[in-house]
Amino acid sequence: MNTVHSLPLPTRPILVVGATGAIGSQVVRALLAAGAPVRVFVRSPEKVRDLPETVERAPGTLEDPVAIARALQGVHAAFYVSPHDEQEEVFAERFVSACEREGVRLVFSGVYVDGRTRLARFAMRTVFGLMMPHYRPKLRLAERVRTSRTDPVVLSPGNYFQMDEVCRAHLEGGRYPFPLGLVPRVDTRDVGEAAARALLDPSVPSGGYALVGPESLDGEQTAAHWSAALGRPVAYLPDLEVTDAIFDRVYGGRKALDCQKSYRMVGRVKMKTSAADVQQTEFLLGRPPRSFAEYTRDVAASWLATAPAAWPAGLDAEQRLHEPVS
Ligand SMILES: NC(=O)c1ccc[n+]([C@@H]2O[C@H](COP(=O)([O-])OP(=O)(O)OC[C@H]3O[C@@H](n4cnc5c(N)ncnc54)[C@H](OP(=O)(O)O)[C@@H]3O)[C@@H](O)[C@H]2O)c1
Repeated sequence: MNTVHSLPLPTRPILVVGATGAIGSQVVRALLAAGAPVRVFVRSPEKVRDLPETVERAPGTLEDPVAIARALQGVHAAFYVSPHDEQEEVFAERFVSACEREGVRLVFSGVYVDGRTRLARFAMRTVFGLMMPHYRPKLRLAERVRTSRTDPVVLSPGNYFQMDEVCRAHLEGGRYPFPLGLVPRVDTRDVGEAAARALLDPSVPSGGYALVGPESLDGEQTAAHWSAALGRPVAYLPDLEVTDAIFDRVYGGRKALDCQKSYRMVGRVKMKTSAADVQQTEFLLGRPPRSFAEYTRDVAASWLATAPAAWPAGLDAEQRLHEPVS
């Protein structure tokens, strides 16, 4: 049993921002599984129509300070993830200040860049900011949360396992196209459960926590796991042109751009998962993190039960890039 299930439950709701997204939806799932009261801050309430009626809907956007203040009223704690948006620093500042005013604990899921001291974090921000100028606002806003008066818990997840699902057609066609040097990776279900623990358990010390799977993975290892899970050869054939086309097609806009830039970095780096990072993850989860092998088995089972992903119509040029899989 997960640590979250043995915690006393708050009577006041927990506010989740980004509840329709990759991470926020997992936070909602984990909170509901623990029986906690949940309020979601959503731009489009119809997107959360499948959530139980007991989940409070707080309509609004991060552009609107009044909606944010209304959503935060009477909450036990709040979860924040930074959307892929040019205004993300402004949004974060608005949300963090509102939490400070309301005296609400803030649990934030950011990027895999952190350090124990301000100086260490400054050094990390400088190095990563040089490698990825595009990510500077993300790194600055993480520091704003980290040093806020919200008793903050800042989660630093590695590359999400679930990113691979956007290239289902390529995997089923025998190819893993995303460039991966060597990076810590993590299951978003674990991010959701770790966040739920920090939101429900006031004894979790404020500070930064890495969230990682048991081992770092490179492109060859990732492809080998998919090959074992799908029961067919999957070759690691990294290709930025293909990667860009997939993100443009599946996400588009700012999210596509963020992902494209981030794979230019993760394709180059060699970052080995440390025992200390795994320990921090285990502390929040109360168990070892899910492995990539477990994750690919789960996903492959669901894919094998359905028809293979169809190539999208009108993408002949992109498709051709994938045809000659050796
Ligand atoms: N991909 C990775 O491997 C990885 C790894 C570590 C960290 N990250 C970081 O994780 C963050 C993204 O998290 P995610 O993957 O959960 O994002 P996501 O799936 O794109 O979800 C974003 C959420 O934010 C909501 N949102 C967007 N703009 C909003 C606004 N103006 N007002 C209110 N809500 C708004 C969206 O709602 P709608 O449904 O209305 O659009 C959605 O629920 C990024 O900062 C990224 O850098 C990613």
